Amino acid sequence: MKPAATVATLQPSAIRRVSDGAPPDAMPLGLGEPTWELPEPARRALAETRGICGYGLNVGLLELRTAIGAFTGVTADEVLVTNGSQEALFVMMQAWLDPGDQVLLPDPGFIAYSGIAQLVGAEVVRYELAEDDRFRLDAAAFERALVAAPRAKMALLNVPSNPTGAAGSVDALRRIADACRVRGVVVVSDEVYRDLYLERRCASIRDVAKDAVVVASISKGFAAPGLRVGWAVGPTEVLAPAKVVHAYATTAAARPCQLAAKALLDDAERVLAQSRAEVARRFDALQGALRRHLGQEARVPDGSFYYWLALPEGAHADPFAFCLRLRDEGKVVLIPGLAFGERGRKHARLSFAAKPEQIEEGVRRMAPYWSRG
Ligand SMILES: Cc1ncc(COP(=O)(O)O)c(C=O)c1O
Repeated sequence: MKPAATVATLQPSAIRRVSDGAPPDAMPLGLGEPTWELPEPARRALAETRGICGYGLNVGLLELRTAIGAFTGVTADEVLVTNGSQEALFVMMQAWLDPGDQVLLPDPGFIAYSGIAQLVGAEVVRYELAEDDRFRLDAAAFERALVAAPRAKMALLNVPSNPTGAAGSVDALRRIADACRVRGVVVVSDEVYRDLYLERRCASIRDVAKDAVVVASISKGFAAPGLRVGWAVGPTEVLAPAKVVHAYATTAAARPCQLAAKALLDDAERVLAQSRAEVARRFDALQGALRRHLGQEARVPDGSFYYWLALPEGAHADPFAFCLRLRDEGKVVLIPGLAFGERGRKHARLSFAAKPEQIEEGVRRMAPYWSRG
């Protein structure tokens, strides 16, 4: 027996490979999930679950779609509720890409994008992020990649980015959306980290292009990754085929989790402010630790809880080996930037979603590896 060819060559995510084998006493600066409590509105909604627990509509409960619509400025018909934004990404690619079509992905970019593209048989074309501008969106580099991709059917953006924490200017977003419109390329912007910022919220693709689709979820800003509720928001005709895929793939998101998501969205201002305070506390810890132990001034990311840390030069040839040594001997987990694409070779992703004391201790343990180079 042989699994499908697309699956047989698909490796488990490098993030899991690096973090799952970590010694139990290693400082967890690898995984990107909130380490603060599930906010109270969600806990209350989950505790109140009773009576008949039906499937509900495939596209999601109307009350949740209405809440997502109010939060994102669309109608309930322009919302598809999914099992996390990961499923939203999956159904969008499944719905719009035929085998052999090309999909534009950022380099560096979130690992799942290329995995999902491979599962649907699409060819990945990378567009470079601006290394000289903290890896923000580079409209010119995007346009070059688009010109070189005659079979492009979809472009994925990620603002702010996992792994770099960088976003893109309104002008860059507009140029990218315009270029895609001319070519009939569907734009999907992954904005799952947009509500987690230290200074100001970055621009959304939908500020400049109402024909684009945004995917997001309650996993990061709303601190509820385990509830597995996300969404795709966009024009009904673009979402329509994705709704069909979603119905066959998962039927619907879990009803109690949808009601908890609604409770979080109804209280969005307060919940998101609390999460941002948690992130700010952790960034303060990171800033202090980087200054004390590595002699570096931390730059404030545009959003997310990721710090894109330059690796010592000696690590560039084999960043995986360096990060595994750091993990097993130094007892601190960082994800090598190379896992996110060739342009990530000289960096590592440090997740400051960890607890402040873990961040302090983790950076302290890193110091000898940085001074040795
Ligand atoms: C950029 C990005 N997009 C999407 C996801 C998927 O998250 P979820 O399915 O929990 O919304 C993640 C998770 O880490 C992510 O980093």
